[in-house]
Amino acid sequence: MMTLDQLLHDAPVFHGATSLGLSEPILREIDRRLRLLGDTTATLETGAGMSTVLFALRGCEHRCITPSREETQRITNYCHRRAIPLDRVQFVHEVSQRALPALEPRPLDFALIDGSHAFPTVFLDWFHIAARLKRGGQLLIDDLQLWTGHVLAEFLQRQPEWRFECELESRAAIFTKLEEGAELREWTEQPFVVEKSAPLIWRYRARRATELLQQGKLGELGRAIVRGVRPLSR
Ligand SMILES: C[S@@+](CC[C@H](N)C(=O)[O-])C[C@H]1O[C@@H](n2cnc3c(N)ncnc32)[C@H](O)[C@@H]1O
Repeated sequence: MMTLDQLLHDAPVFHGATSLGLSEPILREIDRRLRLLGDTTATLETGAGMSTVLFALRGCEHRCITPSREETQRITNYCHRRAIPLDRVQFVHEVSQRALPALEPRPLDFALIDGSHAFPTVFLDWFHIAARLKRGGQLLIDDLQLWTGHVLAEFLQRQPEWRFECELESRAAIFTKLEEGAELREWTEQPFVVEKSAPLIWRYRARRATELLQQGKLGELGRAIVRGVRPLSR
């Protein structure tokens, strides 16, 4: 069976002229973790590319979600040329925003978010993957240099149901899911959202107080100060 070293040496291009693929250290870290997980590893990725070949090489029960049939054709051709079995890899040709909610629940050991990096797709990917990851399952988020990946990683670092494992090349982060349900919490139970909301709430209060002062509604202002002006209500 082919090795990751041979795959890296081949450096096949699956995304057109330039490679958008994961870097070598990130692929090596995924490889290392998949080896530790053993034989019957259930995995899922959004996006496709070198990572897909790696999941296939490791014999994972793998789902790959990408809208691009051209990419998966290139991946399939490459795997056939290199005799890499794809019988345990299922390609889902759809954007992940639509595909993930429709997938039947299958507990996952490892997942990679590396599909669309747009808002809110990264967060939707996480929402649906989080519900399917086993306790102890691992999640790799790529492209922390983009706002969406960066915010998701910062959020998870503060969420007690998840454990931060490591950052790779300042570009990817790996987390372990410790408990169910972080994706269903109210914002008051999400420390990152509470922290980021605090200055917005104070800004709202200051603006509202100014409005009430300008309108001469001193009674209302007094009552608001006494009970605390409720954010987002008028
Ligand atoms: C950065 S590349 C993935 C690189 C891959 N992990 C690798 O190791 O080579 C991004 C991938 O996301 C796919 N993609 C774009 N929009 C998507 C979406 N909404 N849902 C799922 N995949 C998407 C692209 O077709 C492309 O395959």
